[in-house]
Amino acid sequence: MSKYKNIVILTGAGISAESGLATFRDEEGLWNKHKVEDVATIEGFARNPDYVHDFYNEMKKELIDVKPNKAHLAITELQKNYPADISVITQNVDTLHEKAGNENVYHIHGQINQAVCMNCGNVIATWDDVTTEDICQNCGVLGMFKPNIVFFGESLLCMNKVDELLRKCDLFISIGTSGVVFPANTFVRTAKYHHAETIEFNLKSTANNYDFDKHIIGKAGETFPQYVKDLISCE
Ligand code: APR
Repeated sequence: MSKYKNIVILTGAGISAESGLATFRDEEGLWNKHKVEDVATIEGFARNPDYVHDFYNEMKKELIDVKPNKAHLAITELQKNYPADISVITQNVDTLHEKAGNENVYHIHGQINQAVCMNCGNVIATWDDVTTEDICQNCGVLGMFKPNIVFFGESLLCMNKVDELLRKCDLFISIGTSGVVFPANTFVRTAKYHHAETIEFNLKSTANNYDFDKHIIGKAGETFPQYVKDLISCE
């Protein structure tokens, strides 16, 4: 009889760090090398769509061959061997959860291998470059694609599902997020309000540290697989 029935795992850039990907706010983070207002806001995109397309087309080239690490693989291990509904809510736009075989993955900030037509809402999946020269096959309009990345100021994706998952979860796990970005940094509070146990995996204490019942400090690729092993063995 498993202790937990509905598990939600929230992930951030830190879970992908051991796959060699930069996070956003650590020392070598993306936001130390690029201005958020230039590449992650709708105003920045309107100001210079070619520059923003180039930024994400470059990121796409980096991400296409990156491999999942032991933390991603441990989620698959848990989903396969622990009898509970286990969902992943990720802030990451990489596809490492999918490459690791994770199921029930919800990308609330979008995905690097997708683009959305701002005229008709058509979403396409592509690892190729997306530019202002592309024509939407759905509505026929030229140059209206943007990366399917949620820019600051835009609404998050999958939020109805996220709300449903947070209301019914009895275990909320956060892996590799600094907890500074709204509304993902409030998910732990919603889960807690609905009586979930809350546990955080990070290299260090985070902005919403006090919201968690437990903190496991260390590299997620080491700490989380061990946690999964212990959870499955107690099952
Ligand atoms: N193991 C565990 N945690 C790690 C590891 C690791 N190997 N490496 C880094 N971390 C932790 C850092 O300590 C930090 O708390 O991962 C976190 C990364 O934080 P951010 O760089 O702020 O990334 P994230 O929390 O995902 O950012 C949220 O902000 O800019 C937006 O859309 C962007 O999705 C992103 C959102």
